[in-house]
Amino acid sequence: MMQTASQATPYLVAHITDLHIKAGGKLSYRRVDTADALRQCIDTLLALPQRPDIAVVTGDLVDFGSEDEYRFLRGILEALPIPVRLMPGNHDSRDALRRVFADHAYLFAAGDGDSPVHYRIDAGPLTLIAFDCTVPRHSGGRVDPDALPWLEAALAVAPERPTLLMLHHPPFHTGIGHMDQQGLENAALLEAVVRRHPQIERVLCGHLHRHITRRFGGTIAMTAPGPAHQVALDLDPQAASRFRMEPPGFLLHWWHPVHGLVTHAAPIGDHGPVYPFFDEGGRLID
Ligand SMILES: [Fe+2]
Ligand SMILES: [Fe+2]
Repeated sequence: MMQTASQATPYLVAHITDLHIKAGGKLSYRRVDTADALRQCIDTLLALPQRPDIAVVTGDLVDFGSEDEYRFLRGILEALPIPVRLMPGNHDSRDALRRVFADHAYLFAAGDGDSPVHYRIDAGPLTLIAFDCTVPRHSGGRVDPDALPWLEAALAVAPERPTLLMLHHPPFHTGIGHMDQQGLENAALLEAVVRRHPQIERVLCGHLHRHITRRFGGTIAMTAPGPAHQVALDLDPQAASRFRMEPPGFLLHWWHPVHGLVTHAAPIGDHGPVYPFFDEGGRLID
């Protein structure tokens, strides 16, 4: 029997990225308290009227990839009472991540040590696939042609399930020159795979510390804003590498069996109470 919109159960994914945690709460770039920013992100998330079912973090979990940083991150994440799924970005160390989060079994689905952290998991009605395109000790990412069979196999497991494909570097040029110089190599190889798998509802990325959207392989690819600093909005190909303390945020991907996948940008912080549009008599307040 067909479900009606009111009977169907939605599923909510919080998409957080680019935490850049430093051990002991040391400031990033001597200015940004990334630990406090993550705590505020968690507070905002927990204050939502609907608690997300799961949180995904698309890389740059810590700033320099040390075990101390991951241990500090782990302590902060304990305040988040929902499942959290991590993946590395260019600032991370796969090996140190796996050592400190050794109980996160999915991190070992495709290998251990310093090997790429690919995984495929079921999350309620959705499939989450993390495809690790980071290159150790490089800022940019690269789609490894030898890794594509793993991705094809992961996508073949349940082609009927709506799927979120996660990678750290966005597979498109953003116009922010200094970030595009450390973008994703071989994105066209990935695009060809994505195009063959229409169950991919989104390609979810980080790295840019801003919310940016583009069509990609017949679906929608996007980066999430950071919980701390944002990369400055400057579309000059020669733009200097700078950040700004713009309002931070995260994304909420709301899956509804009837309405599909809808993405909301959620600003972090306490923005005061909610106010009614209408008075008690149902009239628009003038
Ligand atoms: Fe980052
Ligand atoms: Fe990054």
